[in-house]
Amino acid sequence: MRYLVTGAAGFIGANYLKYILKMHSNCEVIVLDKLTYAGNLLTIQEELKDSRVKFIKGDIQNKELVENIFMRHDIDYVVNFAAESHVDRSIENPQIFLETNILGTQNLLDMAKKFWSIGKDEKGYPIFKQGKKYLQVSTDEVYGSLEKDWAVAQELILNESVRKVISGRKTLPTGYGESFFTENTPLSPRSPYSASKTAADMLVKAYEDTYHMPISITRCSNNYGPYHFPEKLIPLMIKNVLEGKKLPVYGKGDNVRDWLYVKDHCKGIDLVLHKGRLGEVYNIGGFNEEQNIEIVKLVISTIARIMRDEPRHQKVLKTELSNISEGLITYVQDRLGHDARYAIDPTKIVTELGWYPETPFVEGIEQTIRWYLENQEWVNSVTSGEYQKYYEQMYQGS
Ligand code: NAD
Ligand code: DAU
Repeated sequence: MRYLVTGAAGFIGANYLKYILKMHSNCEVIVLDKLTYAGNLLTIQEELKDSRVKFIKGDIQNKELVENIFMRHDIDYVVNFAAESHVDRSIENPQIFLETNILGTQNLLDMAKKFWSIGKDEKGYPIFKQGKKYLQVSTDEVYGSLEKDWAVAQELILNESVRKVISGRKTLPTGYGESFFTENTPLSPRSPYSASKTAADMLVKAYEDTYHMPISITRCSNNYGPYHFPEKLIPLMIKNVLEGKKLPVYGKGDNVRDWLYVKDHCKGIDLVLHKGRLGEVYNIGGFNEEQNIEIVKLVISTIARIMRDEPRHQKVLKTELSNISEGLITYVQDRLGHDARYAIDPTKIVTELGWYPETPFVEGIEQTIRWYLENQEWVNSVTSGEYQKYYEQMYQGS
């Protein structure tokens, strides 16, 4: 099993690399990453010592480089995580999102097609070597935004087949509305980021339709967990609480996201890669809808509790313990075109592949916070330099 994993120095890709190295002793992994501001070798420093891993610094758009990788290594699977991933940055500067997310995907598809096809059938379609697969890691944002029907979360009514599979889950799924994203929901992206991810998905699908290329697409909800870059809601709030800084909540804080623990997501991706039907899209969700403001309050109360109960952690605080309160919350100008609600219906992956999001949010968020408390060196390393400039520009005055 030889994987080409792109973007594996970033948040989800790194967690995926760790997952497959643990799960598949016989795998070999080529990591291709440009090491943008979001990619950091510290994140995968242990994995880089593993003889099964080869790291290549480079851009997925680079034709010569990607061609060379396919020429030198008999790649079985491409798992494409590499992307510009932050919605706020896409609002400021869309261009690089189109380049990396669309043209980068096209380059990977072209090279995989070139090296995986071994002739043509009688109708002229390429014949692909057995066992090869290209998996595109996509997002629920391609479906646009859902209505928020309820002001408080309600328990979700699940169909019998889903209930059976998830009976081991400790918490019941809750939500803020009656509609969900299924794999058949029309694509309707609303930000430059999600438009670029949608274009990439459509290209992947076009390669399936036009060339019968062996592909899968996964579309997941908001991930959280270790190694999440502190420009995204949860790690940014953890960092600011520890520093006693204001907590910038966009608009009224009532937008809803469906939070998925990154390790559950990685398991889902690998299942789709090995067991998913060719040419199919699989939605991967957390069964855990929450309003942003509730997430921020939970981060504050969890950190305050850990600090009080386990004073040894107070050494990471850059503020007095008494400052850690909801008084840090600051409502700031809303994101342009801010999507109201995302909520995934994961029935397909649950019933076809037996996957479900195992980690209850209260456990996942506590594990995540504890990870940040114990990995301040990582936080300091990834937030030096470019991060400070971005933060000043993005949150001036707040
Ligand atoms: P990330 O921003 O943390 O990491 C992206 C990685 O890609 C970085 O290591 C970066 O250096 C690398 N990269 C960027 N441009 C590149 C290029 N041109 N060539 C090679 N490498 C490049 O992103 P993430 O949060 O880990 O997301 C990974 C994938 O999952 C993305 O495709 C994203 O759209 C998708 N996704 C993320 C989430 C989420 O909640 N984070 C949810 C749904 C989907
Ligand atoms: O749904 C999947 C998507 O989730 C992925 O495709 C994206 O790559 C990923 O970045 C994420 O997008 P979001 O825009 O939902 O994530 P973000 O963490 O940026 O914001 C989550 C919510 O929190 C959103 O409603 C905006 C809000 N927010 C965010 C930040 C950074 C704030 O209120 N304040 C903030 O400072």
